[in-house]
Amino acid sequence: MKKLLYQFDTDALPSVFDNVVAYDGGADHVSAYGGVTAGNVSALVEGAIFTRSPKDKKNTALFIGGGNLLQGEAVLAAIRAKFFAKFRVSVMFDCNGANTTAAAAVAWLSKGRTLAGKRAVVLAGSGPVGQRAAVLLAREGAQVALTGRKRAGVDAACAGINARFGIAVEGIEASSNTDRAAAIAGAQIVLATGASGVTLLEAGQWQNSPSLELIADANASPPAGIDGVGLSDRGTIAHGKTLFGALGFGALKLALHRACIARLFEQNDLVLDADEIYAIAKGMVAA
Ligand SMILES: NC(=O)c1ccc[n+]([C@@H]2O[C@H](COP(=O)([O-])OP(=O)(O)OC[C@H]3O[C@@H](n4cnc5c(N)ncnc54)[C@H](OP(=O)(O)O)[C@@H]3O)[C@@H](O)[C@H]2O)c1
Repeated sequence: MKKLLYQFDTDALPSVFDNVVAYDGGADHVSAYGGVTAGNVSALVEGAIFTRSPKDKKNTALFIGGGNLLQGEAVLAAIRAKFFAKFRVSVMFDCNGANTTAAAAVAWLSKGRTLAGKRAVVLAGSGPVGQRAAVLLAREGAQVALTGRKRAGVDAACAGINARFGIAVEGIEASSNTDRAAAIAGAQIVLATGASGVTLLEAGQWQNSPSLELIADANASPPAGIDGVGLSDRGTIAHGKTLFGALGFGALKLALHRACIARLFEQNDLVLDADEIYAIAKGMVAA
């Protein structure tokens, strides 16, 4: 029986990246839909849950992507609301790679060390990757803050994740590199999750910090999100700090994304979101 993945993207054009990884993760066929909303997903879900016998339902799975985390979460809630009894299929939530990217980064940051009690600042953390990274750092026991250029955006991001995940992430308005340098004062961990090609911190703003221990940058498109962090850094020691670049943990992100797709086809009742994907990442980074 063919393994069918239905890719539901909240953006108008479904992600090619997610499509390719879905095949590489083991799907036999991927159907990609753009413009999916909580309001129009119901009929698509019915097609997925009413077509195959209970023992065969594990061969149908759903994937939620797109650039807007809140819209994606609304789609996930609408999908779950359609499930009942045995009429369900497995679902993976990974808007803009938020879960897999954040999980890979935090799994590497926490490998072989504890983050508990440390102060972590997620720079430009209002986007999908940053919000999920803040959640996972908090799960590791760090005291987490995230920055964004506008107070309203920062507050909205923190309110959303704090309510949903029962954590207490602090929001910091920081519109310039100088503001972000001030925001990381006294922190031990900095993770940059800004938009592609935007430099959020100059080298001199972190290299002389007496408190910083761990620095990671998710941005893979030049220039670097944190000047002085190499794309391929994976535990590189420089200026007394341990560095991770976007490609340094990106290999785990890709492997994790593929592994999660494969898991979807093992049972029909899996929901892979932040905590579940992070648990898989921790297992992979430890192996
Ligand atoms: N390494 C990997 O494997 C991997 C995988 C996936 C994604 N990524 C990368 O991870 C990063 C985060 O992804 P995402 O989808 O969460 O990003 P995003 O939503 O595009 O951007 C994140 C935040 O960046 C801030 N921002 C936008 N333009 C800015 C500017 N000119 N100056 C300062 N801040 C700015 C915005 O926050 P405010 O408006 O609140 O300031 C936005 O919420 C991206 O660089 C992406 O390419 C890496």
